[in-house]
Amino acid sequence: MALIGLKATPFAAVAQLLAVTGVVLVLVWCISFMGGLAWEATNKSLIFNLHPVLMLIGLIIIGGEAIITYKTLPLNKETKKVIHMVLHAIALILGIIGVYAAFKYHNESSIANLYSLHSWLGICIIVLYGIQWIYGFVIFFYPGGPSTLRSDSLPWHVLFGLFVYILAVANAALGFLEKLTFLENSGLAKFGSEAILVNFTAVVTVLFGTFVIVTVLSQPVIEDDYSYSAI
Ligand code: HEM
Repeated sequence: MALIGLKATPFAAVAQLLAVTGVVLVLVWCISFMGGLAWEATNKSLIFNLHPVLMLIGLIIIGGEAIITYKTLPLNKETKKVIHMVLHAIALILGIIGVYAAFKYHNESSIANLYSLHSWLGICIIVLYGIQWIYGFVIFFYPGGPSTLRSDSLPWHVLFGLFVYILAVANAALGFLEKLTFLENSGLAKFGSEAILVNFTAVVTVLFGTFVIVTVLSQPVIEDDYSYSAI
């Protein structure tokens, strides 16, 4: 299943560095530049700020960590399966709360919902991610499907999972672009420090997604553990 003949270790290490960088950048932007995070506030922008933070840390970073568990962790298959499933559940829950925060901000500020390409793709991503998680849980974990269905399903699970993940990374980039464009249209300097910070955060997001994919396509860290063959 591995398309790249090299070990996953260096690619996964770069992904971890990018993950930490992405978390720091999005928090600095939303807290220091955009005023902070709040679930209830008179300044409704603080509710919106939860959206990029939860989407990046949840769906993109924790979701990416879930994807690479089979290639990076020196553990047995059953343990990795549970970690993979639990991390994806956390990613999905944070993603749902993050999307809810965007709707909450719109509703409390009398802004229309679902008018942008970003929001349309966003809804599709959350729905597909949810379907993928439920199918994976039922077929591979509990109660578990017949062994032929499990082995027939696995390549589709991998392909569909990577498709949804790549779509999520692309949509996060669209989200950064959209928010920065709104801010610039309201007077934010195009080459100011905040604009550069937002673009840089988006670049780190795309690079993290890239290293997640490269890690998945490379050889597992444990020589004799070809996780995809045994389900
Ligand atoms: C994969 C991750 C993401 C998903 C699935 C997602 C999904 C969504 C959804 C469904 C909405 C619609 C809310 C509504 O109509 O009330 C929305 C709104 C928004 N999101 Fe995201 N989002 C993601 C990441 C981001 C990121 C990282 C940013 C960066 C700032 C962002 C910026 C925005 C903005 C500005 C809006 C309001 C305008 C609009 O509805 O397009 N999003 N997002």
